[in-house]
Amino acid sequence: MKDIKVEIINQLSDNYSYLIFNNSNSSSIIVDPAEDKKIIQVLKKNKLKLEYILITHHHHDHTSGVLGLLKEYPDANIYSPSELFSLTINKIADGYKIKTSLNEFQVFSTPGHTLDHVALCDTKNNLLFVGDVLFRLGCGRVFEGTIEQMHNSLNKILNLSDDMTVYCGHEYTLNNLKFLEHLFVQNDILANTKKQILRDLKLKNKSIPFILGDEKKSNPFLNPECEMASEFKKSNNYSNLEFFRYLREKKDNF
Ligand SMILES: [Fe+2]
Repeated sequence: MKDIKVEIINQLSDNYSYLIFNNSNSSSIIVDPAEDKKIIQVLKKNKLKLEYILITHHHHDHTSGVLGLLKEYPDANIYSPSELFSLTINKIADGYKIKTSLNEFQVFSTPGHTLDHVALCDTKNNLLFVGDVLFRLGCGRVFEGTIEQMHNSLNKILNLSDDMTVYCGHEYTLNNLKFLEHLFVQNDILANTKKQILRDLKLKNKSIPFILGDEKKSNPFLNPECEMASEFKKSNNYSNLEFFRYLREKKDNF
């Protein structure tokens, strides 16, 4: 569906929630709502009815808006990978397809940050919602799962089409950029990415969304074989998993 739109709604201090809609009907989908009032304002402004609430993982900064939204839109269908405030939900897991009146999402299990974490992929419209698994130039912290699980989850995302437009859960890009500048020698890819990020931040006050193909070239957490990291990895004789473990530990203490 060509006219599908994604409106980015700032939430809390650095979270993003995503409202998906189109011009031909009044249906809409929200991903990871944290603050219901802000979202309801945008829905009303655009004369939309909230029909679907999609959750990537159980953390409160991705779910705390659900109850408030249900008060205003009690018929909304909830899709979540784990139980939510004792509500009736459609429990989603790897391979599940969410069919909405606007589009269809393929669900990928992406554990590591949390055990229940999923990514949501609309392959027809090239939209990918990654919650806290992947960030621009970084990835989520490993809270509940293992480094191996997180590495495998990022590999699943690495294997998706370059054309995907990626929407992640937080605006952490500048800090992630500083970390990469600290760790790797200056290189053209990082310098060009920095220019693009600073331009995005100046124009839109956000660095989201980004294109998966670009990220595969500039994010060593996502792609340990990217050019920026190859020399470092070779000189330390790291496997991809060892390199990911090294990066994640360094970033946790940065
Ligand atoms: Fe999270």
